[in-house]
Amino acid sequence: MSDAPESAAVIFERVARRFERGEHAVDALSDVSLEIPRGSIFGVLGESGAGKSTLLRLMNGLDHPTSGRVLVSGIDLAALGSRELRAMRHRIGVVFQHFNLVGNLTVRANIALPLRLQHRRDSERVAAMMEFVGLSALSSRFPAQLSGGQQQRVAIARALVTDPELLLCDEPTSALDTHTTAEILDLLQATRAEFGTTVALVTHELDAVRAVCDSAAVFERGRLLDVVGVPRTAQHREPRYIDHVRSRLAS
Ligand SMILES: Nc1ncnc2c1ncn2[C@@H]1O[C@H](COP(=O)(O)OP(=O)(O)OP(=O)(O)O)[C@@H](O)[C@H]1O
Ligand SMILES: [Mg+2]
Repeated sequence: MSDAPESAAVIFERVARRFERGEHAVDALSDVSLEIPRGSIFGVLGESGAGKSTLLRLMNGLDHPTSGRVLVSGIDLAALGSRELRAMRHRIGVVFQHFNLVGNLTVRANIALPLRLQHRRDSERVAAMMEFVGLSALSSRFPAQLSGGQQQRVAIARALVTDPELLLCDEPTSALDTHTTAEILDLLQATRAEFGTTVALVTHELDAVRAVCDSAAVFERGRLLDVVGVPRTAQHREPRYIDHVRSRLAS
């Protein structure tokens, strides 16, 4: 089943995704080949329409390439039957820009949802996830009673509750302010450190890539321009909010 090197969490082999739109066709991705090393935090950069979300959707089998292959842990998602694909998707967590929490469920119930969908109950695991994202004290609140950053923490806990090997993040900080962005990026780093999760981070924010990514793929109109390494020294912690305000107001 697998001819993939052990080190690669995801491999794109000459992937294209074309959307037919009546007379026209849109090539959302063209001839993309890349590897995401296992245990890395991998950035996906590009302007609006570059194909970033399409790339993520191919990685969790929500969508399939028009040509080429996408291998996750050596497994070609397009070759799986629906039951196998569902099982595979339990190994992949997803986080979105607008959190996508269930409004009439508490924090605890939102985090437990992926387990419930698998007919599993594991209140210890749910509690451990709330602790990991620092929300144990807010477990009975509803999403509308949380800040944006807190809501994104819930979404990350929910994505991690099934212990996925791959975490896909589509603009997870684009709706957040600078300080909260730094906290969420810290959480992604902690996720990799604590669980060994491979993280794919779609963003248009260069600073986010600088802060946490090991490398980043840069896309333009569906084409992969390059994969750029981020030197360790470029990775930095964002200043505290008050320091940020002081330096911005003083300059
Ligand atoms: N389901 C679809 N049907 C038709 N066209 C689509 C579909 N999904 C994406 N596209 C087109 O493919 C291209 C890439 O879209 P994609 O959403 O991947 O871009 P993106 O880089 O995520 O952009 P953004 O930064 O705005 O989220 C766009 O031209 C888009 O209109
Ligand atoms: Mg997008």
